[in-house]
Amino acid sequence: MTALSSLETPVLLLDEAQMRRNIARMQSHMDKLGVTLRPHAKTSKCIEVVEQQIAAGARGITVSTLKEAEEFFAGGIDDILYAVAIVPAKLDHALALIRKGCKLRVITESIEGARAISDHGHKHGHVYEVLIEIDTDGHRSGIKPADPLLIDVAAALGDGARLVGVMTHAGGSYACRTAEERESFAEQERSRCVAAAETLRKAGFACPTVSVGSTPTALAAKNLEGVTEVRAGVYIFFDLVIAGIGSCSRDEIAISVLGTVIGHQREAGWIITDTGWM
Ligand SMILES: Cc1ncc(COP(=O)(O)O)c(C=O)c1O
Repeated sequence: MTALSSLETPVLLLDEAQMRRNIARMQSHMDKLGVTLRPHAKTSKCIEVVEQQIAAGARGITVSTLKEAEEFFAGGIDDILYAVAIVPAKLDHALALIRKGCKLRVITESIEGARAISDHGHKHGHVYEVLIEIDTDGHRSGIKPADPLLIDVAAALGDGARLVGVMTHAGGSYACRTAEERESFAEQERSRCVAAAETLRKAGFACPTVSVGSTPTALAAKNLEGVTEVRAGVYIFFDLVIAGIGSCSRDEIAISVLGTVIGHQREAGWIITDTGWM
């Protein structure tokens, strides 16, 4: 084994055995709750890591850029959810990936977005598979489950697109500090996303996929009735933020950066390292 002091820093240190335990922890929790795990691959951006998640039972991946989709597709992953609302200028890129054989699903949260996707599909003889983003915590984006806009967006998908489900990311769970808060946030994420799916179904739209997830809510969930898949990303390595929330212990963090102290301003009480400025 290489002595840490002999490494040229800054250098990323990955505890692979711990990473495998993190993969197993999330996968077994999802298996117990009876849902598919579709890990967010933006965390690792690494095909070897994603292959281990898939070998452990994950089905498909989530990405946050089309570049990630392209790289992972080239690495052999062909079931991908691009989980950021797609804009018109990216549709040619998305369609090129789909035409190469990638089962790429896209999301939207607006009438304009829905029309743009559908018009593009119509023009190029393709039917996009689309999920509508739901806002379950007022934290970032999406449509509130009870907002009539939900039905309008579904209706705006014309013959170049097909609604395949709803998705949400309860990023507000990062403000949770107790097990009770995490569990109730997970239930809020589940129930509100399922309610949106029910509303769409009652209005006559098929909505087979109900996709939720963040690492804190995924690990805290006790019941995922009505949910079909969970997306979680950071659990693969964990970090100090997740340890602060209480979703993991510090010992479960599988990744760190090793740096070297390269200077010392004694009077100021500072050290200078080669790991970059924060
Ligand atoms: C849309 C979406 N889904 C899932 C996740 C995964 O959440 P986490 O990193 O907490 O596991 C993220 C993370 O930002 C996200 O943006």
